[in-house]
Amino acid sequence: MKWRVIGLGTAVLWIVTMGVVAALFVQGHTRPGTDGRTEIVLAQAERDLILTEMRQLLKTVHGVVTVLGSPDQNLKAAESAARSAGMAIAVDVNPAVMLKLPLAFKQMGMSIHKDMDRLADGIAQGDTSVQILNRLSSMTARCTACHDMYRFSIAR
Ligand code: HEC
Repeated sequence: MKWRVIGLGTAVLWIVTMGVVAALFVQGHTRPGTDGRTEIVLAQAERDLILTEMRQLLKTVHGVVTVLGSPDQNLKAAESAARSAGMAIAVDVNPAVMLKLPLAFKQMGMSIHKDMDRLADGIAQGDTSVQILNRLSSMTARCTACHDMYRFSIAR
């Protein structure tokens, strides 16, 4: 009888713990922001790291657009700019940070890295400028959508 109670208690505890982890994974560590966006609460170093990645993304977009607008169109440079923001830089994200980011944020973020690789592949396979710009525009649509939805704040 006693073991049964302990067994049941353990099962309930397990279910509650998994529920909390699942809820965190979906919702992240968030609260309503002052400007209508959802605020994601991070530690200072975590925010710094993600913002560094953001500035890298903007540099990549800038790199590709600059190549397209230049007379010699050095597509090799555009390809490596796109590749530099691909999945390779997304792999080692700290699991604690992953739990703080809402699911929609993680999905949009990952899709950008995947599409940067696709962009690099497309350039390597001879995409035209219009095709490259179309791929970029589908990504910048997500940059702006995410920026409209979320902001970061620092946990105190
Ligand atoms: C999944 C969500 C998401 C996506 C996708 C995203 N960003 Fe961001 N980005 C953010 C958030 C959140 C901030 C912080 C905004 C704030 O706190 O006001 C940010 C900030 C930035 C900043 C400011 C960096 C700084 O140092 O302050 C730049 C630049 C930036 N993003 C560029 C981009 C570009 C370019 C893309 C697309 C190629 C992109 N972002 C895609 C969420 C995203």
